Amino acid sequence: MKKSYITSPIYYVNDVPHIGHAYTTIVCDMLKKYRQLQGEEVFLLTGTDEHGQKIEQSAKAHNQTPQAYADSISAKFRSLWEEFDIDFDLFIRTTDSAHAKSAQTAFESMYKKGDIYKGIYEGWYCISCESHFTKHQVTDQKCPDCGKPTTTIKEESYFFALSKYEKRLLEWYEQCPDVIIPKHKRNEVIRFVESGLVDLSITRTGFSWGVPLPEGIDSENTHKHILYVWLDALISYISGIGYKEALRLDLWQDATHIVGKDILRFHAVYWPAFLMSLELPLPRKIYAHGWWTRDGVKMSKSIGNVVNPQEVAQSYGIEAFRYFLLREVPFGQDGDFSQRALIERINSDLSNDIGNLLNRLIGMAQKYFDLTLSSADIQRFYPQEVAKIAPLLQKFQTAMNDMQPHIALEELWQLLRLGNSAISIYEPWNMMKQDKSESTQALLMLISNILLKVALCLYPIMPKTATSIASVLQCTIDSQNFEHYVVQNTFIESSTLKPIPPLFPRIESPLMSEPSPAQTSLSNTSKDSSPAPSTQTFQTIGIEDFQKLDLRVGVVLECQRVPKSEKLLQFLIDLGESKPRQILSGIAKYYNPDELVGKHVCVVANLKPVKLMGLLSEGMILSAQDDEGLALLSVAKKAGSKIS
Ligand code: MSP
Repeated sequence: MKKSYITSPIYYVNDVPHIGHAYTTIVCDMLKKYRQLQGEEVFLLTGTDEHGQKIEQSAKAHNQTPQAYADSISAKFRSLWEEFDIDFDLFIRTTDSAHAKSAQTAFESMYKKGDIYKGIYEGWYCISCESHFTKHQVTDQKCPDCGKPTTTIKEESYFFALSKYEKRLLEWYEQCPDVIIPKHKRNEVIRFVESGLVDLSITRTGFSWGVPLPEGIDSENTHKHILYVWLDALISYISGIGYKEALRLDLWQDATHIVGKDILRFHAVYWPAFLMSLELPLPRKIYAHGWWTRDGVKMSKSIGNVVNPQEVAQSYGIEAFRYFLLREVPFGQDGDFSQRALIERINSDLSNDIGNLLNRLIGMAQKYFDLTLSSADIQRFYPQEVAKIAPLLQKFQTAMNDMQPHIALEELWQLLRLGNSAISIYEPWNMMKQDKSESTQALLMLISNILLKVALCLYPIMPKTATSIASVLQCTIDSQNFEHYVVQNTFIESSTLKPIPPLFPRIESPLMSEPSPAQTSLSNTSKDSSPAPSTQTFQTIGIEDFQKLDLRVGVVLECQRVPKSEKLLQFLIDLGESKPRQILSGIAKYYNPDELVGKHVCVVANLKPVKLMGLLSEGMILSAQDDEGLALLSVAKKAGSKIS
């Protein structure tokens, strides 16, 4: 049996899980379940990254010891994954003593190889990313990756001879062009390595929350140094499968890492270099996914708009949330969460397309055939429909193998539409009136077959829904059935249906509260209809808070759609300054770009710039929204006029 290994990143325990963590882990679980359907034995590792300065500081801020703090947050991650049906085989914690020993063994081995030497690290450090930067990479003391302030450090450190591996890394990228996905991220990695690698500081001395240096490396200073948290964390991928004693090579030789784009450098540059030093095989695949925003805005604790996955799941259900995350965004690109988009998906894709088809099948099978269906004539009566099934299943499999679940789901939905439209076209109720019981049975068997195939394919994405649909047809989801009914596209010829309650009732209004009234009313990208002012609870602010806002009249000079975004418009706006500003606004559904040129709008001019879809937005355009839509606020005053 083919074996493979999948890892999620191990999550920092400085804070509770959010939608980004849920997304990565669900993608891993989806991949595991899909490979299992293909008959593979798959081992999935997830866990928590518990050492380092960031965790030490967070624990202190919560008045707890780092260990107690890590224990409580790590438990939250673990229980969330259990709740989310994540089928992990190991939940590793970097504070597990077995892991710490493995990390020390790895350090020792690289040291013995001559790849580690002692020196002084002098440079910039971002505690939030736990990442080192050189002078050239840092502007205004800000981290080039996350934008948070960096600190400068000068301390004794052990260095890993990363530069020694530059050539071998470039050769590896060249020889194995399909390892790092997506391609444009691979190109960024190559450019980074080509620009020259500097040796990496892999121990820290200024604090103590980490794995100590192995005994015997530096007898005087052993207790001063702790391992750099990224070295410690990356080693978990092998320590989790036996590294110190006997690495499970049967798994390791087919390893897939799933990571967010922000941590690709660690996985595609440092990690393979460490593995080269350890003389271990390199990963087969490194998939980097994009980032999630909320209502078009970057999520942050300070804004208070972080999506809590547990809250979404409790309000809308885990299955719908898993579907949304995997359907809404092409893997590798950034995605946006909004309740409106989630509700649209539930009502149209889940309630209408799947729920209705299953209900109609059960209803008609019950009414006309007492739930027992049988027909060997599906092909004879419905050759056109049957001919369309195999190519759709093929496209589904290709997209899943290419890690494009959103395309795979599109193909699957074509199959559901085929079933729904066959009912509309052939009108089984009229066929029954005309005593065409044979062709009606064949039609219902066609629908049963479509639903069985959909259930088998849908299992990696929505395991419970898929299992329920299959149970109606008294079938199980397993690799034999996947091979039989999906890969071979065999049809069942009879079935006694076991009814279940309707799936996915329609959602009429949002079930979760929005981040905060102040945030919602200011956010130019929020789409959810706000409650009428009389029922809204306003958070009061003092005049001094209002005075912090710099509101100005702006004149739109240029406006265009942002490619690949359904929501964003990109504006060039004259605010009476020396040069116009670029501002992005999530109002593409409400306005044509051309009609906005020349319009006088109201702008929050002193909002901290943010990047949306990779483009800088230096302000916010104000609008008002009610049930009928959205309108920009407009004032007939010249550009730059202050609004107060
Ligand atoms: N501890 C390191 C990983 C070590 S792996 C050997 C780490 N942890 S993290 O908790 O900060 O982030 C874990 C993952 O969450 C990363 O893949 C990151 O990309 C992802 N996300 C964090 N915020 C995100 C979004 N807003 N959207 C999507 N994913 C994001 O990094």
